[in-house]
Amino acid sequence: MNQTENMMTQTKHYTFPSDFWWGTAASATQMEGAAYEDGKGPNIWDYWYEQEPNRFFDGVSATVASNFYHRYEEDIALMKALGHNSFRISISWSRLFPSGEGDINPLAVNFYNRVINELIDAGIEPFVNLYHFDMPLQLQQKGGWENREVVTSYVEYARTCFELFGDRVTKWFTHNEPIVPVEGGYLYDFHYPNVVDFKRAVQVAYHSILSSALAIKAYKATDLKGKIGIILNLTPSYPRSQNPADLQAAHLADILFNRSFLDPSVLGTFPDELVDLLKTQKALPHVEEGDLQTIATYTVDVLGINYYQPRRVKVKEHLPNPSAPFMPEHLFDYYEMPGRKMNRYRGWEIYEKGIYDILTNLRKNYGNVECFISENGMGVEGEEQYRDAEGSIQDDYRINFIAEHLKWLHLALEEGANVKGYHLWTFMDNWSWSNAYKNRYGFVGVDLENQTRTVKKSGYWFKQLIEDQGFEK
Ligand code: BG6
Repeated sequence: MNQTENMMTQTKHYTFPSDFWWGTAASATQMEGAAYEDGKGPNIWDYWYEQEPNRFFDGVSATVASNFYHRYEEDIALMKALGHNSFRISISWSRLFPSGEGDINPLAVNFYNRVINELIDAGIEPFVNLYHFDMPLQLQQKGGWENREVVTSYVEYARTCFELFGDRVTKWFTHNEPIVPVEGGYLYDFHYPNVVDFKRAVQVAYHSILSSALAIKAYKATDLKGKIGIILNLTPSYPRSQNPADLQAAHLADILFNRSFLDPSVLGTFPDELVDLLKTQKALPHVEEGDLQTIATYTVDVLGINYYQPRRVKVKEHLPNPSAPFMPEHLFDYYEMPGRKMNRYRGWEIYEKGIYDILTNLRKNYGNVECFISENGMGVEGEEQYRDAEGSIQDDYRINFIAEHLKWLHLALEEGANVKGYHLWTFMDNWSWSNAYKNRYGFVGVDLENQTRTVKKSGYWFKQLIEDQGFEK
């Protein structure tokens, strides 16, 4: 244990700024339900479930989810009771534009107006994200993010949202974890359309980045005075050893999985080595004149960081099958560090210092961009076993998880990181794509049979932390 790590084990009071953003994050498809109600159009999740329900844990769809569409007043009241000062929602593109473009759905406008107003009335600032994995089906049928016309439809959707809600919403995000639809949909087969093709994946990634810059441009063309950014899942890459071959493996993983989105979003440029790698793989995307200038000009005001786990890698030990399609993993192998701390309920490593490393990297190499932790959290399968006689989940493991991450966040803050808040994933247990309700993350438990909400021990602990502007540990 080095000196800093040792310091982390000593009891101390961690105090946070009085205007720190405390809250949680969620997304439309994962919490709203009402998937076929009030004029919402189908998105890829509705469609994929209809085609292959077996791809979803326990065969559960998003049709009902946690039913926020009908219960938002009660949920926002509970958020208020638990002390939130901010909450991230996403707008469902196919609820607002049932076909992804063209006619707008007035019932959706009404719903999001009511949610935004309800949050503001409760003293909770709405952070609004425009895209959280949920491509409208009709646009996917035109090729989704592979098709440049879809970028145009997205920018029109974004512009409409600014016009409809921008008088009250002052924190906007263009995408949540845009690399995930690339990985899930075009490399590793866990999102529709289940393509495995590196070159197509790169085009999807490029169009997502371009769409973000164009949405920022559209926002800046209004006279609205809020901030607009993007939310990225950053997974620091740690080498197995200091051997140059391991260091190079970690460097390549970092370029592919972090810097591919981080550099264009914050600095407005792509890493040269990424461009070289894509050239070597004959996978450069189609770029039009003016695009790179747009990306260079319209960088983010604020960056959301989703951090769950680190990425540990080592040099590639066996040559890949020469007829296998190129994959990022042809450049490195994953490495399981002996003795690593695990969230055994989810199978993910827990490495709290990662949050500090990310914030320090942003401070040193990314102009100390304004940022916040937009997601962090602990998924637990089988959480029911921790329910006590009064019906509340005694999730001390989650309290510990959050506190240990916050300690490292606090150190980064003391050293000058421009970090403005912390949002847990998520407020109440929600539907998580093909994992459905397998892993529970919320401060509030949701009984899927009757939709009853029960605050977990961590929810009360977080309320106290907000009241005290910190905690002792
Ligand atoms: C985050 C996503 O990366 O992970 C969320 O932004 C998702 O949408 C969360 O629900 C948890 O994922 P999982 O697979 O553990 O349920």
